[in-house]
Amino acid sequence: MNGVSIRTAVSGDHASISDLLRSAFQGSDEDDLVSRLRQDHDVVLELVALKQEAMVGHILFSRLKVTGTRDFDAVALAPLAVSPDYQGQAIGSELVRSAHEHLAYAGEKLSVVLGEPEYYGRFGYEHRRASGFASQYQGEYLQALAFGDAPSSGTLIYAAAFGVL
Ligand SMILES: CC(C)(COP(=O)(O)OP(=O)(O)OC[C@H]1O[C@@H](n2cnc3c(N)ncnc32)[C@H](O)[C@@H]1OP(=O)(O)O)[C@@H](O)C(=O)NCCC(=O)NCCS
Repeated sequence: MNGVSIRTAVSGDHASISDLLRSAFQGSDEDDLVSRLRQDHDVVLELVALKQEAMVGHILFSRLKVTGTRDFDAVALAPLAVSPDYQGQAIGSELVRSAHEHLAYAGEKLSVVLGEPEYYGRFGYEHRRASGFASQYQGEYLQALAFGDAPSSGTLIYAAAFGVL
């Protein structure tokens, strides 16, 4: 095992998460995005990975609306980050899998991600599952994973924080 523990993020983690995001993404965009999502109360789930008290990973899911014949609450995965010194040790994978368990348990039915199909495909995300949605992000990097009965068409409305990226 990699000695990593995963738990829900608390407000006392925010400074360490900020440092982690800035170092993993080499910039402040994702840190700003996360701050805005929290401010707007659009966060659905936020988990951190710790190794001997050090913050080594972070994942966040925000509310994503699917509008269509019936409006539907889905989640968007972004961002996912592992501290550069700890990458390649399955910490990102553990964060994604653990988050999916939390989300399914909480009754969430659909998760959407914009990212590398090669990476997110291993968790069950598929472009095919997302290809029917109308979105400014439509394309092969837009992928979805359903945990239950969820729409395959409609328009994806991301949290407002994504609009200021
Ligand atoms: C992407 C990231 C979260 C992966 O975390 P990690 O803990 O290193 O990943 P894991 O150890 O669980 O998985 C490693 C595998 O993912 C692959 N991988 C990592 N980044 C990848 C990418 N951008 N595209 C495709 N595959 C990738 C590795 O090649 C490795 O493959 P293998 O298992 O076949 O050897 C991490 O590299 C990171 O924080 N990167 C910078 C921020 C980022 O790009 N985040 C994702 C976009 S929101």
